[in-house]
Amino acid sequence: MKWTSEKIPDQTSRTAIVTGANSGLGLACARELARAGARVVLACRNVSKGTDALSAIEQALPDAQLELAALDLAELASVESFAQEFLSSHGDGLDLLINNAGVMAPPRRETKDGFELQLGTNLLGHFALTAHLIAAMQGRPDARVVTVSSNAHKMGRISFDDLQSERRYNRWVAYAQSKLADLLFALELDRRLRASGSQIKSLAAHPGYAATNLQAAAPPLLDRMVMRVSNVLLAQSAEMGALPVLYAATEPGLEGGVYVGPDGAGEFRGHPRLSSPSRAARDERVAARLWSTAEELTGARFELEAGAAA
Ligand SMILES: NC(=O)c1ccc[n+]([C@@H]2O[C@H](COP(=O)([O-])OP(=O)(O)OC[C@H]3O[C@@H](n4cnc5c(N)ncnc54)[C@H](OP(=O)(O)O)[C@@H]3O)[C@@H](O)[C@H]2O)c1
Repeated sequence: MKWTSEKIPDQTSRTAIVTGANSGLGLACARELARAGARVVLACRNVSKGTDALSAIEQALPDAQLELAALDLAELASVESFAQEFLSSHGDGLDLLINNAGVMAPPRRETKDGFELQLGTNLLGHFALTAHLIAAMQGRPDARVVTVSSNAHKMGRISFDDLQSERRYNRWVAYAQSKLADLLFALELDRRLRASGSQIKSLAAHPGYAATNLQAAAPPLLDRMVMRVSNVLLAQSAEMGALPVLYAATEPGLEGGVYVGPDGAGEFRGHPRLSSPSRAARDERVAARLWSTAEELTGARFELEAGAAA
């Protein structure tokens, strides 16, 4: 039988953070984790949208244990204050971090810290967030970090000579780079966790093609119109797109370092199954260089040994 969210094991007494939980996949993940009994922190940049999402989940699930917290991944100070607030109010720790939020193909913009917006939001914000929170996951049974990548990672290349697309900006190339970077990060994090003897796992997932606000949010009008049509004709629902993420987050016995996607043709739609990262995503030298570059840019450090954090 195909895997659905009904197969999520009981999550009672587990605490999860879902970034970008007010919309699309993040909202579906937050709702299904809450349905399974997890305490879920909705980490949203827009608190008013977050409040609406929280109310919608509460309406469907009156017993849901939900919290809302402000997190703007495009501002390192916001990432740090979100993490500090979480750590000071959740002494028992964190079981699940879902690095889901993302932006796709906007005109060239920069984060508050001067990073190209897609790299800054999709990779660097999540890199810093994970570094701040990883110590809170040490010692928690079956603790997992799940980072959301994309089929687009297969088109990606990490351009170390113009990482922030300052010399030349193509919004789709920059999106593909950021999603390859997400996958490189997830796999490198798992290797580092294993090397340090940690029990925490890092996994990655992608939704295939799901109709969400991603396609509506950023690109110019023509692309938006094309995507609106293809959303109707080709895309699966946000709920289906969320399944690989939920599977990576909760399926018992999954190894760290795996990548989960939909099982349909081209991995555009379907139910979760293990997927294969591209060769570029498995390049350990690029991953190590990207890691140190991310450390330099964000100032965040992962202290994986002995349970200490950035
Ligand atoms: N949908 C697909 O077909 C597809 C395919 C491949 C990969 N993905 C990946 O799936 C993930 C979720 O996307 P989605 O499809 O669910 O899109 P979505 O409906 O647009 O949701 C994206 C979420 O990210 C949030 N976000 C954007 N910038 C942020 C920031 N600076 N700080 C904090 N949160 C921020 C958005 O907040 P606002 O609502 O405030 O904008 C929203 O909650 C993304 O990583 C995307 O790359 C999606």
